[in-house]
Amino acid sequence: MGRSCADALVGTVDAVVLVDRDADLLATAGHELAATGANIEIFVADVTDRVRLSELATLVDGLGGLRSVAHAAGISPTMADWRPIFAVDLVGSALVLDVLAPLVIPGSAAVCFASMASQIVVPHGDAAVDAVLDDPLHPDFLERIADALGERIVDTGVAYGWAKRGVQRLTRREAVRWGRSGGRVCSVSPGVIDTPQGQQEAAAQPAMAALVEMSPVQRMGRADEVTSVVTFLLSDQATFVTGTDILVDGGACAALRLD
Ligand SMILES: NC(=O)c1ccc[n+]([C@@H]2O[C@H](COP(=O)([O-])OP(=O)(O)OC[C@H]3O[C@@H](n4cnc5c(N)ncnc54)[C@H](O)[C@@H]3O)[C@@H](O)[C@H]2O)c1
Repeated sequence: MGRSCADALVGTVDAVVLVDRDADLLATAGHELAATGANIEIFVADVTDRVRLSELATLVDGLGGLRSVAHAAGISPTMADWRPIFAVDLVGSALVLDVLAPLVIPGSAAVCFASMASQIVVPHGDAAVDAVLDDPLHPDFLERIADALGERIVDTGVAYGWAKRGVQRLTRREAVRWGRSGGRVCSVSPGVIDTPQGQQEAAAQPAMAALVEMSPVQRMGRADEVTSVVTFLLSDQATFVTGTDILVDGGACAALRLD
């Protein structure tokens, strides 16, 4: 979905910086996008590496300033245990927004990727867990969230749902901080989307096929159907939209009668 967002953002900004930890994937994407004549930079970074992200901020600053951030890097329940899920999906998102915050100018906007999984796993929240979840840059965050969630944290689906709830809550707080400099921050919560990650999860979890079947649109979503929401949120058509999450799930949560 990050690649789809990059394709859509080319032409809306002077330069596009593609970021991923996968150097081969980045080189291919950079080559293909540069062939369109766009000004493309590639930057290999792991979003859990604050030092590397600070170097990214320096690069962006040197290119003329921060306009649009589509932060799609993430991992899902079948890819790792609970620690990397929290470290990449939640702490990584917090680090990205934190290192870029000093660059925010009027018109800057960011969209983070949460997930419909947060609504399914955590339909009502829990004040004690949320208090820990809301401090993802605490040096002992992983130990604290393990204490708060207890044994259920080893279920990677549970960890993923809480991590993505953390992303939704992070974007609300960062919207307030970025707003002081004229910027906006939102999140999107995709349902089951037909990407490499979405296919891997669907293959491992038969319940996802049932969820797709019962949803009003009765199919997986396409990356471009999430991208269109992200590009709207990043555009000047959404200048009064910040600090909120948009569910892009084909109505799956509605079919489950979740709030
Ligand atoms: N596909 C779905 O059904 C679905 C549903 C809900 C939410 N999401 C979320 O949407 C986002 C995009 O998902 P996708 O389906 O495009 O996934 P994807 O696996 O196709 O792409 C994710 C990208 O993130 C990169 N990445 C992973 N860890 C990284 C790290 N530590 N640092 C830098 N890059 C890293 C990967 O190399 C990969 O290129 C993710 O945050 C995912 O959790 C996906």
